[in-house]
Amino acid sequence: MIKKFVAIQFFVLFFFSKVIRADEGMWIPLFLSQYNIEDMKKLGFKLTADDIYNVNAASLKDAVVLFGRGCTGELISNEGLLLTNHHCGYNNIQFHSSVENDYLTNGYWAMNREQELPNPSLSVSFLVRMEDVSQKVLSNVNSGMPESVRQATISKVIEDLEKAASENGKYQAVIKPFFYGNEYYLFISEVFRDVRLVGAPPSSIGKFGGDTDNWDWPRHTGDFCVFRIYADKNNQPASYSKENVPYKPKKYFPIYLGGVKEDDFTMVYGYPGRTQEYLTSFAVQMVSEVENPHQINLRQQRINILKNDMGKSAEVRIKYSAKYAGISNYWKKWMGETAGLRKLGAIEKKRNLEKKFQEWANSDETKQKQYGTLLAEFEKVYNQMTPLALVDDYLFEGIFTIEALSFALEFRNLLAINDQTTETEKRKIIDRLTIVSKGFFKNYNAPTDKKIMAAILKTYRDSLPSEFHAETYKFIDSKFKGNYEKFVDYVFEKSILVSQDKVNEFLVNFKPSMIKKLRKDPVVKQYLDFIDVYISKVSPTLVELENNLSRLNRLYIKALREMQPEKKFYPDANSTLRISYGKVKSFNPRNGVTYHFQTTLDGAIEKSKMIASEFDDYNVSPKLKSLFENKDYGNYAENGKMPLCFIATNHTTGGNSGSPVLNANGYLIGINFDRTWEGTMSDIMYHPDYCRNITLDIRYVLFVIEKFAGAKHLINEMTLIK
Ligand code: ARG
Ligand code: ASP
Repeated sequence: MIKKFVAIQFFVLFFFSKVIRADEGMWIPLFLSQYNIEDMKKLGFKLTADDIYNVNAASLKDAVVLFGRGCTGELISNEGLLLTNHHCGYNNIQFHSSVENDYLTNGYWAMNREQELPNPSLSVSFLVRMEDVSQKVLSNVNSGMPESVRQATISKVIEDLEKAASENGKYQAVIKPFFYGNEYYLFISEVFRDVRLVGAPPSSIGKFGGDTDNWDWPRHTGDFCVFRIYADKNNQPASYSKENVPYKPKKYFPIYLGGVKEDDFTMVYGYPGRTQEYLTSFAVQMVSEVENPHQINLRQQRINILKNDMGKSAEVRIKYSAKYAGISNYWKKWMGETAGLRKLGAIEKKRNLEKKFQEWANSDETKQKQYGTLLAEFEKVYNQMTPLALVDDYLFEGIFTIEALSFALEFRNLLAINDQTTETEKRKIIDRLTIVSKGFFKNYNAPTDKKIMAAILKTYRDSLPSEFHAETYKFIDSKFKGNYEKFVDYVFEKSILVSQDKVNEFLVNFKPSMIKKLRKDPVVKQYLDFIDVYISKVSPTLVELENNLSRLNRLYIKALREMQPEKKFYPDANSTLRISYGKVKSFNPRNGVTYHFQTTLDGAIEKSKMIASEFDDYNVSPKLKSLFENKDYGNYAENGKMPLCFIATNHTTGGNSGSPVLNANGYLIGINFDRTWEGTMSDIMYHPDYCRNITLDIRYVLFVIEKFAGAKHLINEMTLIK
């Protein structure tokens, strides 16, 4: 009996070591040759690790950029032409839009270079190189140090190293922790600030399916837009100038027109934002069973109010379109994540690992000393943390999302002015506020915010113990008999912060003597009341617990790596450049359901027919419909159909949007833009059977540019491979 068991175990081990477990992981480009390239080749990859990342010669990395604050983009021509997602360029498209020139609804195409539109707040950065600086960063710390001293010591070294590496501002140099601070890496990048909008499809293509289809499969969203990077005459980064010329990149992606089949190798090269794959069971429990449900509910309330108001007015719709997309995005994601973690039995799986871990830690005295109490400590921290994390969520997913209060937050420096503040400093604060308030009111609708304030104030009080209720509630009770509507009527009538004219008047005539009165403004007062709850009852303990956690997490992952020396560990995503690789793959999200790996334009047309025409999300424009009816697909069809999206097993997350999806030869086959709902738990636990990234087929992009937009001149810049 025993012998048989051993034999089976041996077989299982042997078998698994042979199976290529590629799909999971976001790998560091610097270490591909060491960790991944063999795996990748077995899956079909034809290039070398040096082709992907090389600091001595042009490599694929030189065609990938961090786009804006949190997306990815890729170069597709020798003249700085860049692709990213429509939802990544959304703010910029909105910035150029008005009710008269509604580029969100109608799209925008520059027919020549003069028509390419500058974007003051947009930049892209190229990674020049990365370097392991763990030894330098950790040289002065030891295990006996209190966490805060350790952090301060590390920060000082990091600051000096970053400063030296930036070469007087020529580069952006950033050092980031990996594996919870067991390792540190330096990233040196070049930032380009003149990035112009070249083209965007109408929302009926770029956002087809809208929030109804978001995070879902089958998908038919043409989620792309086109920008161009400009540089000075020496091809160097420069801020916007009429004299700037299109940037000549070291590398750009050739585009492959042959499409994909099931099981084809695919690779995603981009900037994944944040994952937490090594959490303990206690953390997964807190996130999935406590935080997610409350955060979903808070967003649901804002969504209901926004949806209603946006449906009634075109002006409100444009003002709130980007905000709405942002709110609804994670609302839906958290639902998928929670369901997915439950389905996988994630907490149970983590507990099993922890059981093994404890046995391992108890197996000898040294380990016992180092790691024996870790799990018990984790449990204690999470028990204390859970109720406070919830208050934190109600403040930051609730109260401070009331736009008037988030605007009040911008006044904090002004409120802090005292006798020591110099005239120049005051001037600076006022000038900054003048700019901020212009941006704020551009997209603000006070009647909408008023409804949100009333709803959130009520939910906050109904959901949290009274010790966390702010002073504001006493006032609501005493003056308005607990009636939230009457209270917000009063706030919006009396406050200067909800009126652009009043704020302007205040800023133009500002004198320090006005601050006393500003503190009594009902929006400012409310903001200060809740900040007071945060500062007195939440943040001190939370900061302490988080310090504890940073030590525990650092030791735990160090120990896990010691416990499983044969396992390849990848670091959690942290907005640094990574490679994910896998295969094009259909899957079974639930019993009885199979998701095919590919969609075509037929599916978009089908959706548009099924639903009443007032339903915006599935509108197909007459032009697209006629191209479909005439099968006018140019060179881009496959068996007479227009391919639209496909799914694969690449492990991706937020930030990977806009990433180039490459085939075995490193040619561009699509743009990554989403994941399937059943796999959204991949930020915490990946599973190859359920986790799929969604890619927009590059042929649909080219079809829209050429046939729909008539912008063939852009296609002429690209390198197409048959
Ligand atoms: N879910 C995708 C991502 O996380 C797309 C979001 C934009 N689309 C939307 N309908 N909100 O970014
Ligand atoms: N849609 C996400 C993004 O914007 C990608 C994802 O979460 O899969 O980065």
